Amino acid sequence: MGQWWQDAVIYQIYPRSFADGDGDGTGDLAGVRSRLPYLRRLGVDAIWFTPWYLSPLADGGYDVADYRVIDPAFGTLAEAEELIADAAALGIRTIIDVVPNHVSSEHAWFTAALAAGPGSPERERFWFRSGDERPTDWVSSFGGETWTRTKNPDGTPGEWYLHLFTPEQPDLNWNHPDVRREHEEILRFWFDRGVAGIRIDSATMPVKDPSLPELDEVEQHPYVDRDELHDIYRGWRAVADSYDPPRMLVGEIWLADAERFARYLRPDEMHTAFNFDLMGRPWAARELRESIRTTLAAHAPVDAPATWVLSNHDVTRPVTRYGRSDTAFSFASKRFGVPTDLELGRRRARAAALLTGALPGSLYLYQGDELGLPEVENLPLVALQDPMFHRSDGLDPGRDGCRVPLPWTTGGSTFGFSARGFGPWLPQPDDWGSHSVEAQELDPDSMLALYRSMLALRRDLPRSFQWHALDSDELLAFQRGEVLCLVNFGPEAVRLPPYQEVLLCSDDLTDDRLTTDVAVWLRLVHH
Ligand code: NOJ
Repeated sequence: MGQWWQDAVIYQIYPRSFADGDGDGTGDLAGVRSRLPYLRRLGVDAIWFTPWYLSPLADGGYDVADYRVIDPAFGTLAEAEELIADAAALGIRTIIDVVPNHVSSEHAWFTAALAAGPGSPERERFWFRSGDERPTDWVSSFGGETWTRTKNPDGTPGEWYLHLFTPEQPDLNWNHPDVRREHEEILRFWFDRGVAGIRIDSATMPVKDPSLPELDEVEQHPYVDRDELHDIYRGWRAVADSYDPPRMLVGEIWLADAERFARYLRPDEMHTAFNFDLMGRPWAARELRESIRTTLAAHAPVDAPATWVLSNHDVTRPVTRYGRSDTAFSFASKRFGVPTDLELGRRRARAAALLTGALPGSLYLYQGDELGLPEVENLPLVALQDPMFHRSDGLDPGRDGCRVPLPWTTGGSTFGFSARGFGPWLPQPDDWGSHSVEAQELDPDSMLALYRSMLALRRDLPRSFQWHALDSDELLAFQRGEVLCLVNFGPEAVRLPPYQEVLLCSDDLTDDRLTTDVAVWLRLVHH
């Protein structure tokens, strides 16, 4: 028996948008608790909550004001503890988000730093710099500048502070012992409350080159993937390992270099990291095969399981992405008004579910993808909240379109999202009910039914993985023991090889032929 996280299915909950128990239009912990039976029936092993802590929500909760307080919009600490226990009773583990790169500008450390003024020890926990010029020309991950100038009490311009994201997310100084100590205490605070693991936000960014050079002045990037990070995560691993059972670390690591990526997964660092390579590839056999190969090859030497991720709260929903001419995800190419064939996208998203579900390692599933929700692209501009939209002067549609509150029922003013009361924090499209759990529950051809069957069958797949002889430029073909997974990317239908049983198919099979953009799991004939 391996460890649970080696092949777990982890369901990502964006709490604002999952289910609203108190009817104020914002999802909450009561809503999640009421839907735990749904998650159990879906067949997930763990849930990962994007930040649920006290936050002014300048970046959807990734601006944490206090790690030891649940945001009142979501509930209370006692409710979080009960939720963790209720989920555990159903066999579902809880993973929470930790955001080491920055805190909210309303965090007590930052307000103290502002109040204490230049040269104070309070400011040393952040990156404050004096001078008339901005200290560097680094560009924010959300576009725009990375330094904001403070004001002195007399109104004159004061020091600058660094924020790789929004000005409401000041970057912490990881050379400061308080920062390190505090984060290890935060881990313990939550591990003591039964949390099974943590997701580490923007995990390659917390350490900076203290000389603050421009990007082109140095060989090592001044703030991405710096070597000093590994020691921090070794410290976290030691904390995780001091628990029984040991807790798990999963890192958000966007790195093109597979070898650098794998360094975070050495045996005394993180257990796993999100593999975003697959999501960044176009829908084509050659590309996806290359991604699977390099992923498996990079993980082998460090003996860490791969992860498979089709989407999350930051990226365009697969049904929409796969219905476009450019099917690869990239932040840089997000625009309004891209022509989309949702029917095509849905067919491919179904195939992609069977493809990723068949791969060895752990699988991340973003809420609503099991319903095949499309990206909502016609939200009223005034409703958009994401800083990526606002900081790009409206060029980038931002990430609100994948964060629209879920539809649970076919009708009702919020499609079952809110128990009663106000409209949801982001408006739902008029046809949202057709994607609802209620609409799909009894339909054997629905996306929900496909996910449920896939997740159930996935449990029986052996660890082994082998490419199959049929694998070609147009057909992905690999075996997990006796189960063969085929995905047809070519224009022609492909005849199935001899088999004992069709376990799953993302669409209809006609005369034993697999048509374009369809995936199948076959139980092969014994030899
Ligand atoms: C990555 C998170 O997934 C994203 O939602 C957030 O905006 C940034 N990190 C900054 O914390």
